[in-house]
Amino acid sequence: MSKILIIGVTGTLGYDLANASLQASHPTFGLVRESAFSDPNKSEKLRLLSDAGVTLLKGSLQDEHSLVEAIKHVDVVICAIPSKQVLDQKLLIRAIKLAGGVKRFIPSEFGLDPDRTRVSEFDNGFYSKKSEIRRLIEAEYIPYTYISCNFFMRYLLPSLVQPGLKSPPRDKVTIYGDGTVKGVFVNQHDVAAFTIATVDDIRALNKTLYLRPPGNVYCMNELVDIWETKIGKKLERTYVPENDVLKKIKETPHPDNMEMVFAYCAFVKGDQTYFDINEANGVEGTHLYPQIKYTTISHYLDTLL
Ligand SMILES: NC(=O)c1ccc[n+]([C@@H]2O[C@H](COP(=O)([O-])OP(=O)(O)OC[C@H]3O[C@@H](n4cnc5c(N)ncnc54)[C@H](OP(=O)(O)O)[C@@H]3O)[C@@H](O)[C@H]2O)c1
Repeated sequence: MSKILIIGVTGTLGYDLANASLQASHPTFGLVRESAFSDPNKSEKLRLLSDAGVTLLKGSLQDEHSLVEAIKHVDVVICAIPSKQVLDQKLLIRAIKLAGGVKRFIPSEFGLDPDRTRVSEFDNGFYSKKSEIRRLIEAEYIPYTYISCNFFMRYLLPSLVQPGLKSPPRDKVTIYGDGTVKGVFVNQHDVAAFTIATVDDIRALNKTLYLRPPGNVYCMNELVDIWETKIGKKLERTYVPENDVLKKIKETPHPDNMEMVFAYCAFVKGDQTYFDINEANGVEGTHLYPQIKYTTISHYLDTLL
């Protein structure tokens, strides 16, 4: 059982990762910034984690000494900081080299495969920065697993992929493209469970773990069909041609355009699904870990009724 250090345990994914790590009986450590202990919400999360058995270590991604000292306790490092901060992992990579002994590093990605998305001119470097971190890890020969879990269910699905809305539509729905390109959603708790399953698994070493679980891969036409069945009503469908979607993305300032960018990547370009997983450097999580019982999209949509 590897010892695991998680950076970002007060965050939404990091908290789930810490619990999944404990659930799998890994000795679990969290690197926590001093400021989190005096924030009421975060300190409550930290108390729960500490009571459950997580060892909390003070430090930050800006403090090399704290990183090296924390990493010396563990075999595995998982980073779950926000996307806009991914380049802050450069010092972490240096600390992993300095500390030595890390058998696996899982950098903060947890989305679409950054090497495969094709929107770099609109996304303000969202994906290219994640790729930059990948190349640094590989150049330093740090053992890694990249997690390409596609969309969290809490992202875009609560509005049935209607950028700007907070709940699924009851009358009219807008569909980018012709609605036949398939996208993927995975529950964040399941992402955490799949991630933790990889850490001692040689089959995931120096590979990308993709998550495209059966029951969670649908095109927009199918998603709308499922929702219509659940609410017992037909929606008026409006299809937006690809060029009009791109025009809207360009006209909307960053970061307000990002929901549209993500919906475009998935449901127009097929960046989540329309490629073969190359077994030399990729594996499908549900094939490796059939024991993980994940939430399906249909079950998730039931919670929105
Ligand atoms: N696929 C999807 O649909 C999707 C959706 C959302 C997020 N994600 C991915 O999930 C990952 C985590 O995102 P999240 O939304 O869970 O993040 P989050 O809730 O914003 O949490 C970020 C965590 O990082 C910590 N942190 C930030 N800067 C730090 C630093 N300099 N030193 C140490 N800790 C630091 C924060 O600690 P403090 O408490 O000290 O602030 C917090 O615990 C990202 O890779 C993101 O891309 C994917």
